[in-house]
Amino acid sequence: MGAAIRSLGAYVPKRRMSNHEFEEFLDTSDEWIQSHTGIKFRHVASDDEAPSDLGRRAAEQALGRAGLSPDQLGMVLVATASGDHVGFPSTACIIQDKLGASNAAAMDLLVGCTGFVYGLETAKGLIASGAAEHILLVGSEVLTRIMDWEDRNTAVLFGDGAGAAVISHSNNGCGILDSFLRSDGSGARALAREAGGTRTPFRPGQTDRRELLLKMEGRLVYNFAVQVIVDTVTTILTRNRLTIDDVKYIVPHQANERIIEAAARRSRIPREKFFVNIAEYANTSAATIPIALNDLVEREMLEPGDLIVTAGFGAGLTFGGNLVRW
Ligand code: ACO
Repeated sequence: MGAAIRSLGAYVPKRRMSNHEFEEFLDTSDEWIQSHTGIKFRHVASDDEAPSDLGRRAAEQALGRAGLSPDQLGMVLVATASGDHVGFPSTACIIQDKLGASNAAAMDLLVGCTGFVYGLETAKGLIASGAAEHILLVGSEVLTRIMDWEDRNTAVLFGDGAGAAVISHSNNGCGILDSFLRSDGSGARALAREAGGTRTPFRPGQTDRRELLLKMEGRLVYNFAVQVIVDTVTTILTRNRLTIDDVKYIVPHQANERIIEAAARRSRIPREKFFVNIAEYANTSAATIPIALNDLVEREMLEPGDLIVTAGFGAGLTFGGNLVRW
């Protein structure tokens, strides 16, 4: 039995912050941020918004478009690296409760920015096993609350937002056809929150505030990202006996437009094949791919039968992609 994306939804907080606002308190400029990343704006959650609130909004839109009620869901999967709580309870359980998805199991996927890619294959497997008929997959992040607003190397890169997909069984040859999923834990420290877990617990008076926040080795992650986008797309095309001409769009994780341009050059795939919307949202981690898919649908850029390839990479380190027939 196959599984297909039946509908999508997205939500970003109302507050839209331009690069210029960073110029007021960081040694940076709109010109630097745009030329090094492609980012112009990001949306910032209000104090009373957490990933479950953003995710719930995206989920309600997706459910409405699918014509399903929450009690028809058999599973709520939430990909997030900035969940409402540290460790537990899962953000998925909070969204399950807010929606009233009374027949659903719920769990989080802790895969960093590759969470939605892993989630599509997880959903497909659960549908194939008969565990669920309809699955809600949400990518939701409030990264502005775990980033260091005083560090120009990272603060300008991230934003808040959520995307959601309803995934249902399908027998017509459309849907999630293939997934390539990999990890490389040797790079775990390249993208990490050093303290606050059980390895290095928070100790009042001893823990440096910055150890609780997101830290990144930017150059290392950049080089890793370019290589794994190329590897992911090439592997998916080769093992499915496809050429890039068969594919309508590659939908990459939106971390930095220059990463995408470098991957396009290295793989000799035309830049226009890569869908990019980072200018508006910055990097929303697990939410970038579902927000991008939602944008593609809302802009009427996809037709039934189109093939798309997703390509994600992120903390873990993790990477991978999906081949999807629309
Ligand atoms: N404004 C002005 N200057 C800056 C800024 C800023 N916001 N940030 C860094 N710089 C400076 C640096 O301090 C450095 O100055 P120096 O030469 O005096 O030391 C200079 O710019 C160049 O630094 P580089 O690190 O070489 O800049 P680079 O062109 O590599 O861009 C960036 C940095 C954007 C972080 C890039 O390395 C990158 O995109 N890395 C990957 C980021 C990423 O993908 N993150 C997320 C992946 S996973 C996930 O999504 C959670």
